[in-house]
Amino acid sequence: LALEAISALENKSLAEALRSSFISCKTDLEKAEACFSRLTSKAWPRQSLEEFFHSWRDTHLTMTSVAAMMTRLLELSEAASTSDSREAYRKAALNISQVMAEDLGLKGGEDHSELFVRMANTICGGPEWESRRNRVPSCTNFRAWVYQQRVSAPDLAGGLMLSVASEIYNHAEMTYLNQVVPGWLEKYYGFTRVDAKRANTYVDVHAHGVETDHFGVAFSAVEYIYLAEGKGVDYDKINSRCTDYLVAVGRAFEGVSLKVF
Ligand SMILES: [Fe+2]
Ligand SMILES: [Fe+2]
Repeated sequence: LALEAISALENKSLAEALRSSFISCKTDLEKAEACFSRLTSKAWPRQSLEEFFHSWRDTHLTMTSVAAMMTRLLELSEAASTSDSREAYRKAALNISQVMAEDLGLKGGEDHSELFVRMANTICGGPEWESRRNRVPSCTNFRAWVYQQRVSAPDLAGGLMLSVASEIYNHAEMTYLNQVVPGWLEKYYGFTRVDAKRANTYVDVHAHGVETDHFGVAFSAVEYIYLAEGKGVDYDKINSRCTDYLVAVGRAFEGVSLKVF
């Protein structure tokens, strides 16, 4: 699913950097897929569902780290010594702000964190999944790493590249889940079709191009950073950051499979 989206890219250097990363990370991606396919293969006890939703959220809803990068870009714009670089950093910030637009409900939909909570509450049968006792260390560590890379690591372009990687990965994850979650809820939990669809809204809103749009604006932000610095985009670095991200995703979900299922 990711390769499909990548092959549609017009920028061939970008497509190649991402394609080779996704191919080299096949086993990491399989760890994530194994976790989701196990989740949707049967009815799990409440405890497993609570741990799954708690840990899955740790891998998503990282919007505040995106807001931090936007703020850092605006600070760079303010401090820039030439009007060209000032403008380029401003454009990078503007692009990255668009990654947050749907998540915040600015485009008319609902706030995505609300949708996540509704999905988890409905499937788990209450809000207890949010309790810290349901933490899975591999996912807590993943989240801490993503935040550190985006918020406090000096290399802002490297942090933004993690967003480029995460948006395309999320597109694949959500497209996959959208095909299996409603049927899982109907078959194993007795949801009506309407209720299953409603519970799955969080997944559905991400499965029809929202994440590939985010991917596009995140990459534009990267391009503007390089422009601000008077350099060409470093595609080798995009490749290695994408690989860093996918390896981390694989490790996070491997931990979920071991602890939860
Ligand atoms: Fe979202
Ligand atoms: Fe996104």
